[in-house]
Amino acid sequence: MKKYLIWGNVSLKGEVKISGSKNSVLPIMASTLLTSEKCIIKNVPRVVDVFTMKELLEFLGKKVEFDSNTLKITQKTTKPRILAPYEIVSRMRASFCVLGPLLARFKRAKVSFPGGCVIGVRPVDLHLKGLSMLGVNFRIRSGYVIGSAKELRANRIYLGGEFGSSVLATANVLMCAVLSKGKTLIENAACEPEIKDLADFLNKMGAKIKGAGTPWIEIEGVKTLKGAEHTVIPDRIEAGTFIMAGLITKGKITIKGAKISHLGAVLDKLNECKAKLITEDEKIEVLPSNIIAQNMTTLPFPGFPTDLQAQYVSLMSVAKGSCVVTERVFPDRFMHVPELNRMGAKIKRQGPHLLIEGTNNLFGAEVMASDLRASAALILAGLRAKGKTVVQRVYHLDRGYENLKEKLEALGAKIKIEE
Ligand code: UD1
Repeated sequence: MKKYLIWGNVSLKGEVKISGSKNSVLPIMASTLLTSEKCIIKNVPRVVDVFTMKELLEFLGKKVEFDSNTLKITQKTTKPRILAPYEIVSRMRASFCVLGPLLARFKRAKVSFPGGCVIGVRPVDLHLKGLSMLGVNFRIRSGYVIGSAKELRANRIYLGGEFGSSVLATANVLMCAVLSKGKTLIENAACEPEIKDLADFLNKMGAKIKGAGTPWIEIEGVKTLKGAEHTVIPDRIEAGTFIMAGLITKGKITIKGAKISHLGAVLDKLNECKAKLITEDEKIEVLPSNIIAQNMTTLPFPGFPTDLQAQYVSLMSVAKGSCVVTERVFPDRFMHVPELNRMGAKIKRQGPHLLIEGTNNLFGAEVMASDLRASAALILAGLRAKGKTVVQRVYHLDRGYENLKEKLEALGAKIKIEE
């Protein structure tokens, strides 16, 4: 099993370039199932989740070429499959978003139920509710969701759930509605930049979508879609992770290629914490700062992203003072907490809240990574801690961060990978 050895107590220095967004490219790749024409997608990060989606598209009958950071996706077979097997969907939840495009194009689909994962229960009720309202009938058999429709009809669909909007449910319904007859309105749609990016790509394919990026998305159904070319937006979660890596190590780093407008809540919160940040167009400079602890609550976009909660908790564990961090999107997403406490952090959990008392002393320890963002949080803590930190099961990092080790090393981190 792969592990990271990190020698801490370093100050990061230098420049880092942000890669394309993993969460944007996965639904965009799925949406190529809506056409048999050629699609070109640029600025694609070379991460394991992208390779998993590539494998799924190939299984479904596409030819996928991945050179440097560009994907070329064409139709390989004239008899495409409509089945997304357990073996692939269980590896990556985002695979579930082939359901919408398969139903739109073939009126039939059989997709494995993704099940839960370490960050929480993660149901798919909103996906199924939205697609049913477009005329799809669903059965659940042997762990599979089997959907079929005689005709897809536009509808008015309220997509909010107990925890607010859902990113991938919005993507699934959007990808099905583009080929449904009439005008669909999605209410309480997810407003994440990744949804806007997907809609931009679909519009290039010939879809008629208005309002993506707001809670109301209007879709005028069309008969067919064509091939298109698109450049994926930068990864706001990677950018946020590097900002916090700079701050936790009291470093001086420049982050290039990030979109400031995608990071509003993060930059605002870090300003409250007295972080010294200079932002300019697509550039963020992080200067050595004395961070003051501040309460934070995760929320759907444009709120503070749950995908940066773990990294923020690492930063707060060495901040001056104490604070409460509340997780409103995935209330059980706290697997990093006991591991950070092994390093000397002072964090207590009460339901969806963490009470964090800042300390100056984090010490290297053997810790276990549980998911992608928790792994990033442990790496950040390891960079700050005194001595050596060993992060076990870091394969999670390869799912979502392109060349993380190399990028951190270029900033002066001392990291070794051991199998
Ligand atoms: C996406 C992101 C993930 C991020 C999450 C929240 C991708 C590939 N993944 O995941 O990195 O952490 O958004 O920003 O883009 N929910 C329901 N019913 C549903 C669907 C979701 O109750 O049918 C709940 C979830 O359990 C959670 C909340 O809604 O509490 C938000 O989840 P959702 O936005 O759906 O997350 P994903 O789209 O799976």
